[in-house]
Amino acid sequence: GKGEYRHFMQKEIFEQPAVIGDSLHSFLDPLSGTVQLPDLGIDFSAISRITISACGTAYFAGLIAKYWFEQIARQPVEVDIASEFRYREAPMPESGLGLFVSQSGETIDTLEALRYAKRCGQTILSLVNVPESAIARESDAVLQTLAGPEIGVASTKAFTTQLTVLACLALATARARGSIDAAREAALSQALLEVPARVAEVLNHDTTIRMIAADMMEARDVLYLGRGSLYPIALEGALKLKEISYIHAEGYAAGEMKHGPIALIDEDVPIVVCAPAGPLFEKTAANVQEVIARGGKVILISDAEGIARAGDEAAHVIELPPVDPFVAPLLYTLPMQLLAYHTAVLKGTDVDQPRNLAKAVTVE
Ligand code: M6R
Repeated sequence: GKGEYRHFMQKEIFEQPAVIGDSLHSFLDPLSGTVQLPDLGIDFSAISRITISACGTAYFAGLIAKYWFEQIARQPVEVDIASEFRYREAPMPESGLGLFVSQSGETIDTLEALRYAKRCGQTILSLVNVPESAIARESDAVLQTLAGPEIGVASTKAFTTQLTVLACLALATARARGSIDAAREAALSQALLEVPARVAEVLNHDTTIRMIAADMMEARDVLYLGRGSLYPIALEGALKLKEISYIHAEGYAAGEMKHGPIALIDEDVPIVVCAPAGPLFEKTAANVQEVIARGGKVILISDAEGIARAGDEAAHVIELPPVDPFVAPLLYTLPMQLLAYHTAVLKGTDVDQPRNLAKAVTVE
């Protein structure tokens, strides 16, 4: 049941510190501070390329994993939406790994993408929340998220547990490929181990976010911006809002603004910006300035340093704890979920069962 919560989605958002912790502890040994994957029978030192394919929110998890595999493991990765990949007839390399991400394990496009990769001789690894699913059955090896059943149609805890396991997989791959030293591995593992506590801190902003949602519910369009591994979080924020509040929303890489979408900006378009302090911050801050100069109302999600540098002109700020950039996508997802949730509740939509949508898309 929903217990003390009004909706399953809300319950599932608040379960995240616990289920991220569960998923983490099944792969990361807190004593040694190192990732210990189960024996998957895959030699991660010898993969030419990982091809990730998935749908919807699971696809965004794959996009973030690409940043991690490339940066930490120096592993070439390609990511594609399963409904495209399955028909694209992409050539696939020798010694390639196909990685399929799916909460339900039953999404037909993801299953067909898997079958294509198998025909092309790829080793098949899947990451599912339901281990007795078609995608798991047809894989050579399976990793499981320990999110527990996800009832809300909008994916929340499945996504953050997917990110958790993918982060562990990127660390294991980095070690296998010799692209990370022990000190850096320990630091990144430590950052991951602290995520459940940091996520719990972010959930404390629930009331602030509900107030921001009261502003957002009147909007016709909302833009979400991010850079680097937070670009897919902008995509996820926009999908979540569309899906349950029926407000039109788009996620963009912040640097793409001036290539078109900035033409949309006026006083009526809220712009949600995910921008922790760090090497890319000044770039995003410049994009924020351009938006504000055109009357845009910015909701800045950053840490204390970022807010000190760029928060003054924002209409709203949400201050998240400072964390290693590696784990930032995990934290910045939470305000996206809560903004969408509260906006939908205020609009009175059916949050757990939005119109036209099914939890698992098993027919094309
Ligand atoms: O079960 P799956 O992870 O394969 O589902 C993929 C998508 O259908 C799913 O993530 C969908 O986009 C969600 N409703 C998003 O909240």
